Amino acid sequence: MRVFVTGASGWIGSATVDELLARGHQVVGLARSDASAASIEAKGAAVRRGDLDTLDELRAGALEADAVIHLANKHDWSDPAESSRAERGAVETFVDVLAGTGKPFLFASGVAGLAPGRPSTESDRTEWRGPQAPRGGAENLALDAVPEVASVALRFAPTVHGVGDHGFVSVITQAAKDRGFAGYVGDGANAWAAVHRADAGRAVALGLEKAPAGTALHIVAEQGVSTRSIAEGIGRGLGLPARSVDPDDAQDAFGWISMFWGMDLQSVSADTQRLLAWVPTGPTLLQDLEAGAYTSS
Ligand SMILES: NC(=O)c1ccc[n+]([C@@H]2O[C@H](COP(=O)([O-])OP(=O)(O)OC[C@H]3O[C@@H](n4cnc5c(N)ncnc54)[C@H](OP(=O)(O)O)[C@@H]3O)[C@@H](O)[C@H]2O)c1
Repeated sequence: MRVFVTGASGWIGSATVDELLARGHQVVGLARSDASAASIEAKGAAVRRGDLDTLDELRAGALEADAVIHLANKHDWSDPAESSRAERGAVETFVDVLAGTGKPFLFASGVAGLAPGRPSTESDRTEWRGPQAPRGGAENLALDAVPEVASVALRFAPTVHGVGDHGFVSVITQAAKDRGFAGYVGDGANAWAAVHRADAGRAVALGLEKAPAGTALHIVAEQGVSTRSIAEGIGRGLGLPARSVDPDDAQDAFGWISMFWGMDLQSVSADTQRLLAWVPTGPTLLQDLEAGAYTSS
């Protein structure tokens, strides 16, 4: 298939592009800068220049392709409303242009907000609808468009980990460096689902090939790793103590990530693993931490 991939230069996107190319697909990656274009082309993929706000480029990319995988996100944590606005705008555009075509539309999402108090499953749906909702309510916007649009949600674990990750665990690691201890909120019993980046890239490619419209895929290898054990792993790597932080002090200790770090974000993926015949084989999060993936530089 000829696949239009937004976020092709990103952490998950670059692994996804590798996997798609290895499986014989053609890839056109959206790039907003010369550096991103060069990194995509170096893999052997084509480039469409544009960004999340050049909606005509998103439209043209989707029209020319057999499928769309949308992974780009502004990730502006100082202005989450702007990231949500752009995410909704991009998803609205793809939903509009892909309606009635039967072309697969895979888009990034997460596991927050699905099932407070228990591990989320593939059949859970959030209440998040409308522009003011987290991520602009984009997941329900796209899934509600089935069957006109062949939407598939890619619900990634909150940590897609590995060497070079600049996501949540690297932010927690930086907070530990800055403060001289590796913190967790309260008793640290709240846990995060996790998946290695290489396993995530493979799951996305398998999802393109196998997931029916309307599926929510849980790209999750480990159901839940306690935030206390994550902090202890970070602490060992940095030679720093691990320590509890009172929930009232979490914002001061961790900044914007405190809202996620204090959440229980456990998730199961049995249905996804069965549907895709996907067996995660990468290192666990704690193995990555022990190997210095976050702390060696
Ligand atoms: N990583 C995780 O642990 C995780 C967990 C749950 C969900 N997710 C979701 O999965 C998706 C991919 O995440 P990721 O970790 O791969 O993100 P990432 O490494 O931050 O990559 C983001 C991608 O989006 C592109 N991008 C950013 N702003 C853009 C703009 N204005 N216009 C066009 N492209 C833009 C970036 O391009 P440049 O290369 O030019 O910067 C990059 O290719 C996101 O939706 C994310 O929220 C990720």
